[in-house]
Amino acid sequence: MARYESVLESIGGTPLIRLTRAAQGLRPRIYVKPEWQNPGGSVKDRAALAMLRQAEADGSLRPGGVVVEVTSGNTGIGLALTAAHLGYRAVIFTSSMIAQEKRDQFAAYGAELRLVDAFVPRDHPDSLRSQGERFVAETPGAWLAQQYDNPANPAAHYTSTGPEVWDDTDGTVTHFVATVGTGGTISGTGRYLKEVSGGRVQVIGADPITSRYSGGDGSQKYIEGAGHFVHPETAVDEWPKSLDLGVIDRYLPVEDQDAIDAVRELARTEGVLAGGSSGVALAAALELAEDLTEDDTVVVLLPDSGRAYLSTYFNDSWLAAGGFTGPAPLTPVEGPTVGDRATPTPLVERDETVAGALRRLDADGHADDGPVLVVYRREGRVLAPHASDILGWTTPARLRGAATVAETVQPLGPRLGTGLPLTAPAVTGWDGGDGSDGDGSLALVLARGRVTGTVSRQALRDQPTAAGPMVSAASGQTAH
Ligand SMILES: Cc1ncc(COP(=O)(O)O)c(C=O)c1O
Repeated sequence: MARYESVLESIGGTPLIRLTRAAQGLRPRIYVKPEWQNPGGSVKDRAALAMLRQAEADGSLRPGGVVVEVTSGNTGIGLALTAAHLGYRAVIFTSSMIAQEKRDQFAAYGAELRLVDAFVPRDHPDSLRSQGERFVAETPGAWLAQQYDNPANPAAHYTSTGPEVWDDTDGTVTHFVATVGTGGTISGTGRYLKEVSGGRVQVIGADPITSRYSGGDGSQKYIEGAGHFVHPETAVDEWPKSLDLGVIDRYLPVEDQDAIDAVRELARTEGVLAGGSSGVALAAALELAEDLTEDDTVVVLLPDSGRAYLSTYFNDSWLAAGGFTGPAPLTPVEGPTVGDRATPTPLVERDETVAGALRRLDADGHADDGPVLVVYRREGRVLAPHASDILGWTTPARLRGAATVAETVQPLGPRLGTGLPLTAPAVTGWDGGDGSDGDGSLALVLARGRVTGTVSRQALRDQPTAAGPMVSAASGQTAH
């Protein structure tokens, strides 16, 4: 057992754990590296400590200073614990989408949390980054960690994570699999492993399928931490300087549902409770292992624990609300579901011409009063859209005579998972039985986290027809 003189010394030095049941039938040895064994509960403790120490060394953070970061959570936790230990004030700007458990952890370390829920491009004055930068400009002694562009982030992994993987496999590692957020983990660890092995170790970026890194359309995903999302109105898509593209041999794209399945399965079969980005890494590693041999050793970095996601990826109600399924059946559903009443709904892009949109809808024989979803344009859409890309709905009747698609947009009602029973509170709460059918009378229907159609208030109230379901829960279809 190791003995440390401070909590900061205990950062790093995480073990490798061999997968047995989860790797059954696969030829290579597969080890996971559980980074939640760091004191703040994630891989980001390493980068946080290294960035803060570097800032002290170069004078950008002085005694009495303020540690500030814009973060999806884990880097903020690493900075909060480091700042608490060293006596700095910490102010963290983060998305209001992060799990409640993570918010509470900030507070526990005495850090101040600024929640930002603006869905705007990065260079917009309301964006997370802009708000963080403004705070730093206005606050004397404030230092912004800037994990996306801070060389101390990948350097932390070059000097700690990389050597640990190499030493703990006695130099037998052949493949290293990690997700890519800021790119710090994969760049630093990957570069070390490449150098020490003379280029033999293959470095694989496990990436959410819509992430820009692996060529996705940049639309939102449900997995926190991994991948690169861009707001559709982003003028210049900036990639982090912490990411060294030359180190990554290949990417394996993973759907949110498959990542969720992978971590739920891992908990049930191995007793290892990992978070969502770990699921992305694990799903990619298991796919990779199909083509490897007994001579190969795969190391999969698991960034944080599933304990931070008990209310999301491990919660049946949360999964059902997003139209996700479970590897083991979710709580059984009796009676009709939202999917039984949903209907596939065509898409028009906000910036396409009204004439063009009408020509397409008319050619498809779409009813004049039939709903049409208005979406942001995305290059190379790979899946049905994410709900955050939908601006609202319209109809061909509304489009006729309008100058732009945008001016016809009406607000939507709630988002409903395809498998939700009609008796679920999310459904009955919306279909309040008040008979109103005005704005917001159409809900988005989600399957596997993506928008596959719509359901009207009226359709939820109707008794089922003899013809049966209008769109099956499994079909996941959407027109476009
Ligand atoms: C849960 C989680 N997974 C993965 C990552 C990606 O790690 P990196 O930023 O080193 O690429 C992060 C980064 O914040 C994270 O919080």
